Amino acid sequence: MRLDLATWQEVDAYLKNSRGIIIPTGSTEQHGPMGLIGTDALCSEQIANEAGKKIGAYVAPTLAYTPAPFNMSFPGTISISVGLFEALVTEIIVSLIHHGFNKIYFINGHGANLEPLRQVADAFPRINIRIKSWWDFDSVDSLRQNNFGDWEGMHATPSEIAITQATHRTLPPGDASKPPKKLSASFMKAHAGDRHGPPDQHRKEFPDGRVGSHSALANSKVGRKLIDAAVIALTHDYLAMKETKQPVE
Ligand code: NI
Repeated sequence: MRLDLATWQEVDAYLKNSRGIIIPTGSTEQHGPMGLIGTDALCSEQIANEAGKKIGAYVAPTLAYTPAPFNMSFPGTISISVGLFEALVTEIIVSLIHHGFNKIYFINGHGANLEPLRQVADAFPRINIRIKSWWDFDSVDSLRQNNFGDWEGMHATPSEIAITQATHRTLPPGDASKPPKKLSASFMKAHAGDRHGPPDQHRKEFPDGRVGSHSALANSKVGRKLIDAAVIALTHDYLAMKETKQPVE
């Protein structure tokens, strides 16, 4: 259930039975030659909306403006500072608490959001906040491994592109038709959570925007399976999360 399509009276009634809400987080950044700029936001939004509809939980508007400084040498990328993102998330949480929400589930689609989200969540010990990237659910991760193995890579992954193919549009591979350069295990570890270098260096190192991901392996059928698995996992995880018993203010 989309919060932006609800009335205040509907939210008022909802809060008498539930104090939970789902917030999708993504990015606005390049995703290689066949990936959409909004990929991260589109993936988490789709999964959140389907899960929310299934279990009758509100889904807040997607946070699509987030930090992605390393992709700023690719046109179309919009990046905000970590400080601004943390301030934004903080004020969103404060607003939700003000109305009585005390269980907040961030379903995430962009690695660089994780650390700032965790920082902010730590400042609200009295409410329940969960932060989970959709690809980290076990069932989703198995699908990724089984379908794409090492070619999943780190950015413009066949999985995320498969999801947007299932929900939005499919582009020809173009410059992404050939496999990208393979990443070493140590590179992946050192750059987890999108800890990439300065924009010019990043583009030089990964000229077509893919970071170890063979985007062209994506197909919409797998995309649909990934969405379905993520939706089931999210509904279970959300429902298992307790609401805070005490009022928080
Ligand atoms: Ni992405």
